[in-house]
Amino acid sequence: MAEKTSRIPGFFKLPPQERLERVAEIAGLDEAAVRHMSDTGNLSAESADAMIENVIGTMNVPVGVATNLIIDGEETLVPMATEESSVVAAVSNAARQCRDSGGFHTAMSGALMIAQVQLVDVPNPEFARLQILEHRDDIRAICDETDPVLSQHGGGFRDVEVRVLEGRSGAMVVTHLIIDTRDAMGANAVNSMAEAVAPAIAQWTGGRTYLRILSNLADRRLARARATWTPEAIGGASVRDGMIAAYDFAEVDPYRAATHNKGIMNGVSAVVLATGNDTRAVEAGAHAYAAQTGSYRSLTRWEVDADGNLTGTLEMPLAVGLIGGATRSHPTARICLDIMGVTTAERLARNIAAVGLAQNFAALKALATTGIQKGHMALHAKNIAVMAGATGDEVDAVAQELVTGGTVRVDIAEAVLARLRGQG
Ligand code: MEV
Repeated sequence: MAEKTSRIPGFFKLPPQERLERVAEIAGLDEAAVRHMSDTGNLSAESADAMIENVIGTMNVPVGVATNLIIDGEETLVPMATEESSVVAAVSNAARQCRDSGGFHTAMSGALMIAQVQLVDVPNPEFARLQILEHRDDIRAICDETDPVLSQHGGGFRDVEVRVLEGRSGAMVVTHLIIDTRDAMGANAVNSMAEAVAPAIAQWTGGRTYLRILSNLADRRLARARATWTPEAIGGASVRDGMIAAYDFAEVDPYRAATHNKGIMNGVSAVVLATGNDTRAVEAGAHAYAAQTGSYRSLTRWEVDADGNLTGTLEMPLAVGLIGGATRSHPTARICLDIMGVTTAERLARNIAAVGLAQNFAALKALATTGIQKGHMALHAKNIAVMAGATGDEVDAVAQELVTGGTVRVDIAEAVLARLRGQG
């Protein structure tokens, strides 16, 4: 084993296989581990190497397809990339239970992204604010020249807003460039615009510009989804009332709201990842939006309509795109978009909102009735059976015994497997 060091000069210049070999030497990986890492599956080492730095392999995550969704009248199959069991089944079950009441209805507030330019060292910030606003046309021109392709596609500069904020070391003047990024997530476009506009802002005001970067609180790019579930479809009025009580809990308690919203993100992030979009951007936006009133709240709202049906809504920032980044360069992401039949970023965001709502429905229903572990256990038991060495038909047979026995543990799975093999 080579000397343990994290200093590997020229590492970034090596091809992936050589990098892997260097890491294997240092970390003491055996041949089987190296062989495993060399198999990059359906993303070539070359493509992976073009996506990020210092690539040595890939990490495969299962892609499942959620069924039963009707979104805005369209039968829709939704691919989801996740390592968590029960997530895909939960969406499919929730969607099945609202098919008779029309499925999901969705909308989008627009495709506007915000880029921020921070200006400091201005003694009269309110004066600077107006100076910047007076240059609206110049700002428009700089933005649209920076990304003429976006303007050609009907996007580009829409508005400018300027806020004066009191920082710890004095006032700062924060300019928001509001940009329609159409089918792009838009991070690159708006970051370039912010960088292009900043010197002009400094010149107009006599101040100094620092940060020039998008805001992930994409509250001009809200995706909305709503659906109705009849009491008959969900197991009765008491289930409905339990779900409302679960929602009330999330509305008043950030400890619960964090978990409630995590469940929503189980669905949202899985589709975001499957389509090669930026999960962290969407997650940051979601949680910032959930806290916008000053206290962290649920992203969904649950009510009972005049006929006693359960109605759910979700509204959250969803900055996703079809252009640029892994959406284009990852072959799996492209195929996932094809499975969904999505041709616009708006449609993608709207479908994702429907999935988030479905996920929350399923979690609240499970929590308000049998509890979450029952559903988890069936799949968890299969994992444990595989870990115990079960293959083929043995997996289901062992898993079933574990679930029936009520304790899902590897040692028990091994014992069950040994007994089944002894009988065979
Ligand atoms: C688990 O990944 C997600 C849940 O905890 C969500 C929730 O509690 O609402 C089940």
